Amino acid sequence: MSSISFIGLGGMASAIATRAVAGGNAVEVIGRDAAKAKALAATLGGGATAGTFGTVPLGDIVVLAVPYTSAASVVAQYGEALAGKVVIDISNTFNAEATGLVIPDGTSGAQEIAKALPASAHVVKAFNAVFGHILAQGHPLDVLFAGDDAQAKASVSAFIESLGLRPLDVGGLPMARWLEGMGPVLMGLARNGMGSFNIALGVSAIS
Ligand SMILES: NC(=O)c1ccc[n+]([C@@H]2O[C@H](COP(=O)([O-])OP(=O)(O)OC[C@H]3O[C@@H](n4cnc5c(N)ncnc54)[C@H](OP(=O)(O)O)[C@@H]3O)[C@@H](O)[C@H]2O)c1
Repeated sequence: MSSISFIGLGGMASAIATRAVAGGNAVEVIGRDAAKAKALAATLGGGATAGTFGTVPLGDIVVLAVPYTSAASVVAQYGEALAGKVVIDISNTFNAEATGLVIPDGTSGAQEIAKALPASAHVVKAFNAVFGHILAQGHPLDVLFAGDDAQAKASVSAFIESLGLRPLDVGGLPMARWLEGMGPVLMGLARNGMGSFNIALGVSAIS
């Protein structure tokens, strides 16, 4: 069991938090709108609580569930309150057309968020290449993740497993750029080859 805090109360936070409660984790939800956070905690049940935006989250793992364009300002408002936390960055960094990334070459949204966090926080990129509405349906899915700190990755991996999902480590945090690149790939598949948003990417071992 892990203790998890979600910053952001939208579709992704709700989908992951629902599975987190079902998986027996201690869940806290936090948003800039306190009433909305309380309402989501009540909907989640399972002892989920509503935290106060900008103060030290209860969870050892903090899921940053806000748009990438808001991440820098949210992280700045938290400042040292995120010291020592494992921060899961779930953001997609693709442009409005979903044909490319808004991130400069040589970095990723996750690495930029890591630079803005206290040095003692550890960022793990995960969940960005899974549609929220698919997560909400409860399927067993593959969740690719990347990060530099082995202990942080182990705790995120255990958390992902507790959601009934398969964690797959793709390497260090610079690999987050390529995970973010899977966002446009997923959107392109939905709009073209698969012709549907009811899809998920998965990895097969071939013997
Ligand atoms: N949707 C998907 O299928 C999907 C899949 C993979 C990854 N993602 C990523 O997951 C993240 C969340 O996506 P979502 O679909 O859950 O979005 P969403 O439903 O629009 O929810 C976004 C949440 O972020 C909060 N927020 C936005 N700006 C904020 C700010 N400046 N300060 C505090 N809170 C702020 C919003 O607060 P209010 O409630 O107060 O407006 C809302 O609760 C994004 O980074 C997205 O790229 C999404």
